[in-house]
Amino acid sequence: MIRIAPSLLACDFARIAEEVRRVEEAGADWLHLDVMDGHFVPNLTIGPPVVEKIAAVARVPLDVHVMITDPLAFAPRFLDAGAQVYTFHVEAPCDARAVIEQVKGRGRRAGMALNPDTPAAALKPFAADLDLILVMSVFPGFGGQRFIAGVLAKVREIRYDWGFRGDVQIDGGIDPDTIGACAAAGANVFVAGSAVFGAPDIKARIAEMRRRAQASASPSD
Ligand code: DX5
Ligand code: ZN
Repeated sequence: MIRIAPSLLACDFARIAEEVRRVEEAGADWLHLDVMDGHFVPNLTIGPPVVEKIAAVARVPLDVHVMITDPLAFAPRFLDAGAQVYTFHVEAPCDARAVIEQVKGRGRRAGMALNPDTPAAALKPFAADLDLILVMSVFPGFGGQRFIAGVLAKVREIRYDWGFRGDVQIDGGIDPDTIGACAAAGANVFVAGSAVFGAPDIKARIAEMRRRAQASASPSD
């Protein structure tokens, strides 16, 4: 199932509730929340109290992408705050199995992410227990970066070589020009920050991206 997940990193943080309503009314399937700790990545964003406030106004699932060094310690906080999807990085030095168990034990979806220079094989041992695999198409930390097309080989490997049946998400530089190749490679969840919030007509932009993804996806996606 194709899903468009606008990243609130590109929204007006002084008006989060209005921005949430605006993208939901424009057709967002999930809301992508980028959590950064200033340590795993060189940027700081939001934490559990803000996620909780967003959950109070959101109508669609919260897709929480944590770019943090200790995803295990913070898992309960983000799950309590309302994360429906909790995606952490394979590069984070933590007990990944324990994170997955916590997330799934509470009936939420567990995801793991790969930086552009990390081989897919790094998370293959966990794949059978994951609901989602996130292939980063930029180095995490900032919105508005250029799409790295070389990561599509990993998307194909995960979807077609491994036959991974869960969600394959792609994040970074996704726009109407790059989304088709990602869908053709086997991705089905598309994160977009600047391409959505920077559009003059957000509803038209989401519809266009969905149309292009559908046109390039294989019929089973
Ligand atoms: C980058 C974040 C992305 C980012 C995407 O570290 O994980 O979710 O917001 O932004 P765009 O779509 O502008 O590349
Ligand atoms: Zn993200």
